[in-house]
Amino acid sequence: MVFKVISAAEAASYVKHGFNIGLSGFTPAGTPKAVTPEIAKIAEEEHSKGNPFQVGIFTGASTGDATDGILSRTKAIRYRAPYTTNSDFRKAVNNGEIAYNDIHLSQMAQELRYGFMGKVDVAILEACEITPDGKVYLTAAGGIAPTIAKLADKVIIELNSAHSKNMMGLHDVYEPLDPPYRREIPIYKPSDRIGLPYVQVDPKKIIGVVEVNKPDEARSFTKPDPITDMIGQNVADFLAADMKRGIIPSTFLPLQSGVGNIANAVLGALGRNHTIPAFEMYTEVIQDSVIDLIRQGRIKFGSTCSLTVTNNCLQGIYNDMDFFHDKLVLRQSEISNNPEIIRRLGIISINTAIEADIYGNINSTQICGSKMMNGIGGSGDFTRNAYISIFTCPSVAKDGMISSIVPMVSHLDHSEHSVNIVITEQGVADLRGKSPIERSRAIIENCAHPDYKNLLWDYVKFASKGQTPHTMSASLAMHDTFLKKGDMRLTNWEDYK
Ligand code: COA
Repeated sequence: MVFKVISAAEAASYVKHGFNIGLSGFTPAGTPKAVTPEIAKIAEEEHSKGNPFQVGIFTGASTGDATDGILSRTKAIRYRAPYTTNSDFRKAVNNGEIAYNDIHLSQMAQELRYGFMGKVDVAILEACEITPDGKVYLTAAGGIAPTIAKLADKVIIELNSAHSKNMMGLHDVYEPLDPPYRREIPIYKPSDRIGLPYVQVDPKKIIGVVEVNKPDEARSFTKPDPITDMIGQNVADFLAADMKRGIIPSTFLPLQSGVGNIANAVLGALGRNHTIPAFEMYTEVIQDSVIDLIRQGRIKFGSTCSLTVTNNCLQGIYNDMDFFHDKLVLRQSEISNNPEIIRRLGIISINTAIEADIYGNINSTQICGSKMMNGIGGSGDFTRNAYISIFTCPSVAKDGMISSIVPMVSHLDHSEHSVNIVITEQGVADLRGKSPIERSRAIIENCAHPDYKNLLWDYVKFASKGQTPHTMSASLAMHDTFLKKGDMRLTNWEDYK
């Protein structure tokens, strides 16, 4: 090894208070795991001496406990962008302790290059291999690795032997030029490769290599339940019907699907529906269900930013790389979520909402308007540019005390102008080609839970007339009632007229 092998603690000692750190990875896949806990130790030591120690974090999407969790608990994060799912981070954000910039994932790399978020002092990249001339072969995610490696003053490599060197060749590393020199990104089908299989890092910037043997902090999934199964079935039936009507070509179109149990249930149902031909994915995360469907021949190709799979599934991919090498490609989030490519390929996007309103506006991020859940992730990148944009959610949350269908969303992430279809376990609301009033009928009739239908119909009846009927004093009354009485079903419109 031409690069100095250093301990994680030594690598962390280069990080100073006020630094901005760029991290590889996207979802816990491919994020550093050894140096960040050592940074947390430094923060604790400095705080115990009464000294300030906080850093900014720039990364692809969520990380694991070894980064967002431990750094939040030690109060070592001043600023972070973009999406994350960590519960300790969430608490700190909602307590006002961390400045969280929740931006669209496709924009993260370019906003760093444009200088919107300050400089990158140190980049930490997880690799499965590094060559003496600085070719860094990434692990299970593309994230924003080439951008932070280029912008950072110094680079630390975590060479993680828990990832197989079989990963070499799966990445397609491509960074667009910035305006006014940007050209089209030449991806015309999900399997097109346009870049290099490695990130070229200036060897002079590499402080050292930290040898690690730690698997990704993969999340496990709860088993599908009758509600998620029904949502999955409704999505599959809807897409099959749209294909039959000729709206979706008979060859089908590439799919994007979010993370979580609903996404897994949707893919399971699509896989089982053989009226839908084998299809391709152009997406940001691939979960276990997609790998199963590739093995079954139901998915022909998967283009993704990360392999957000369980560790067993990842080992299975590594062991079967001869089979998978022409069926998967890993890209950076700037490319996997790129609006230009999403629009060109005609992606069908399927994402999960926290709540939808009766006109088709979607809240993906905040509880009751102010408490951050996770973030917008890539849902905006895909929804705004999709061929068909779909949102799914259970019709109720918290044992029925919350309706996911409300008169007005308490926070807006995706507007009625971008959302085509809303699907709950109750049914499908097709909003395409409809006016707001027509949309409200479709959503209440097909998607709302029976416990809430009359409440919503009553709101529509008394709402002030207009293009989008609303009564301002009542539009958030269901949320207000939940906050005061713990149950949206107790909403009394008379109190809000
Ligand atoms: N009001 C209050 N809480 C609600 C709610 C509502 N309307 N709807 C859901 N919740 C709560 C659930 O009760 C659950 O709470 P818990 O963690 O205490 O059990 C939590 O939100 C998560 O909901 P769940 O039904 O388990 O769904 P999920 O894990 O699929 O997460 C999102 C749903 C919306 C939070 C998640 O998909 C997300 O972060 N999306 C935004 C990012 C995105 O879309 N990325 C796309 C590409 S990956």
